[in-house]
Amino acid sequence: MPLHPLDDDLTLLRADDGTPLARLRVRDDDGPVAAGVRPEPGVAAERVAAQARRDLAGLRLETPDDALAAALVAGGVPLDRAATELRHDLADLPSPAALPSGWSLAAAGWDDDLAEAAAAAYGPDHPDGGWTQDDTTAVRGMFETADPVPPLASASARLVGPDGRSAGHVLCAGPVPWTDYPCAWMLNIAVGPSAQGQGLGRALLDHALRGTRAAGLPALALSVVDGNPARRLYDRAGFVVVTRVLTLRLPT
Ligand SMILES: CC(C)(COP(=O)(O)OP(=O)(O)OC[C@H]1O[C@@H](n2cnc3c(N)ncnc32)[C@H](O)[C@@H]1OP(=O)(O)O)[C@@H](O)C(=O)NCCC(=O)NCCS
Repeated sequence: MPLHPLDDDLTLLRADDGTPLARLRVRDDDGPVAAGVRPEPGVAAERVAAQARRDLAGLRLETPDDALAAALVAGGVPLDRAATELRHDLADLPSPAALPSGWSLAAAGWDDDLAEAAAAAYGPDHPDGGWTQDDTTAVRGMFETADPVPPLASASARLVGPDGRSAGHVLCAGPVPWTDYPCAWMLNIAVGPSAQGQGLGRALLDHALRGTRAAGLPALALSVVDGNPARRLYDRAGFVVVTRVLTLRLPT
C-alpha cells in the first residue's frame, strides 16, 4: 500500500521501495481530494508527481508547492485553479463605513435578483470562470438543506438597493470541515456590476468580519483566485496569507 495513514488526518505517499515522498490529507469534498500535498524535504518534485499520478489517480490534488504543480503540468496534467487562502484574525476591525443612501443589508437568502447580480458579477471573463447554474444550485443547497454546511447567519447578508431588490450578498459558513484551524469561511461575496465601486463590497466584508466575531469564531478565511482584483479589497482589510492552493485533477 503506497498510502500510509500517519494519524487521524495525515497520510504519507511512499515510493514503491518505501521511501516517504510526500505528506497529504485525504478529504471528501464531492469526491476524494488529496489536500495540502507537500513533498518531504529533499525529495524531487518529479518523483512525487510520478507517484501521485499512479497512487492518487482520479483524485483532485491540492498543493502549496509550486515545483510539484509545475512537474505535474509538465507531465500533461492541467492546472485547474491557482488561488491563495487568506485569513483575518478579527483584531483591529475598522469601524463600519456607512452604506450609501438607500442601500441596506438584509437577512441572507437567495432570490432571482440575486442570481442575476451574481451572474453579472462573475461574467464569462472572470478569473473564477462565469457563474453557472451549478453555483446557484450550490447556494440554494446551503439555504434549503444545509448542504454541505449551513450559512452562518450572523456573518452573511443580502445587499438591497434603493429599488428594494437584491443587488449582491456575502455568504459565510462556520465552523467548516475543510480547514485545520477553527474559522468562518467566506464562500462568496458579490455585488452586481452596476452597483460596484461605491463601497458596498467593503460594507459586506465588514459585516462578515463582525458577524464572525459575534458568532464566537476566531477568524474569517477565504480563497481568492490569482488575478481577481478583489484581492486588493482583502489585503486592505487586513487579511494575511495562509497558503497557496494549486489545484489539479489527476487523470484516472
Ligand atoms: C469584489 C466585489 C464584491 C467588490 O465590490 P465593490 O462594491 O465594487 O467593492 P467596493 O466598492 O467596496 O471596493 C472596491 C475595492 O475592491 C477592490 N476591487 C474589487 N474588485 C475590483 C475590480 N473589479 N476592479 C477594481 N477594484 C476592485 C479594490 O481594492 C477596491 O478598492 P479601491 O477602490 O479603494 O481600490 C465586486 O467587485 C464583485 O462582485 N466582484 C465579482 C465577484 C468576485 O470576484 N468576488 C470575490 C470572490 S473571492
